[in-house]
Amino acid sequence: MLLGLIGSGNMAGALARGWGEPVLATDSGSGRAAALVAELGGESLGTDVATLGSRADTVLLAHKPYQLASVAEQLSGFSGLVVSVLGGVTLDALRTAYPQASVAAVMPNTAVEVRRGVSLVAEGSDEPERVNQLFGRVGSVMTLPETALGAGTGISGVGPAYVALFAEAWIDAGVRAGLKPEQASALVLDTVNGAAELIRAHGGDTLAVRRSVTSPGGTTARGLRALTDAGLPAALHAAMDATRRTA
Ligand SMILES: NC(=O)c1ccc[n+]([C@@H]2O[C@H](COP(=O)([O-])OP(=O)(O)OC[C@H]3O[C@@H](n4cnc5c(N)ncnc54)[C@H](OP(=O)(O)O)[C@@H]3O)[C@@H](O)[C@H]2O)c1
Repeated sequence: MLLGLIGSGNMAGALARGWGEPVLATDSGSGRAAALVAELGGESLGTDVATLGSRADTVLLAHKPYQLASVAEQLSGFSGLVVSVLGGVTLDALRTAYPQASVAAVMPNTAVEVRRGVSLVAEGSDEPERVNQLFGRVGSVMTLPETALGAGTGISGVGPAYVALFAEAWIDAGVRAGLKPEQASALVLDTVNGAAELIRAHGGDTLAVRRSVTSPGGTTARGLRALTDAGLPAALHAAMDATRRTA
């Protein structure tokens, strides 16, 4: 499979690093395509999207969503597999833009870079086995009806940023309590990883895991109460609502 990237920004770069194979890459003139292939191998075609279309058998659309029509015009006649990671762009819109190609709509997150990503595949995408195999190499894959992709994105797509914000605040709190930043950081990251694995090992039973740490009247109970009083559950609901708004 020869993979061509339309766009060499954050998402294309994260995926390409996760796949770890040479790619054909393009950008809109920033030089990020050349930087990416210097790192991974392959070839930068600069802004020459048409040549990329004539050489690649699979094309990853990783430009901005509003550029769908203008990029499709440069790829006109492409008949391979078009995989879009464009937020909010439907399969219908992809089929209109790429009438001769197979099309798939996928919403990965940036943890694909370390092969621990989550990729949401829109039900009804063409060539689902090939798409699942491609994204399965860089993490887990879940197929969802298109109508549920927005809600899924409100968790996994934006999630790395949420966890980064949560970790940063928690590390700051640890430093305020007297830990060195590197100690607080190691504790936070290992705790987040371990807790996720523990919850998974208990079949997703968050309450059981929470209860097993919480002695009546104890330290954890006081911390949990402080988190609830400070609005953590409400903040996560508000964040989900915010991701569903268009502006
Ligand atoms: N970031 C995420 O976590 C995430 C998650 C899921 C989906 N997405 C989706 O991924 C897409 C890209 O997001 P991003 O965060 O990676 O944005 P980004 O860092 O701004 O990257 C966009 C890339 O597209 C290139 N580009 C723009 N027009 C082009 C054209 N006509 N031909 C070739 N390349 C062109 C840009 O070129 P220059 O380098 O020259 O500017 C840049 O390399 C968006 O549609 C977004 O919805 C992002």
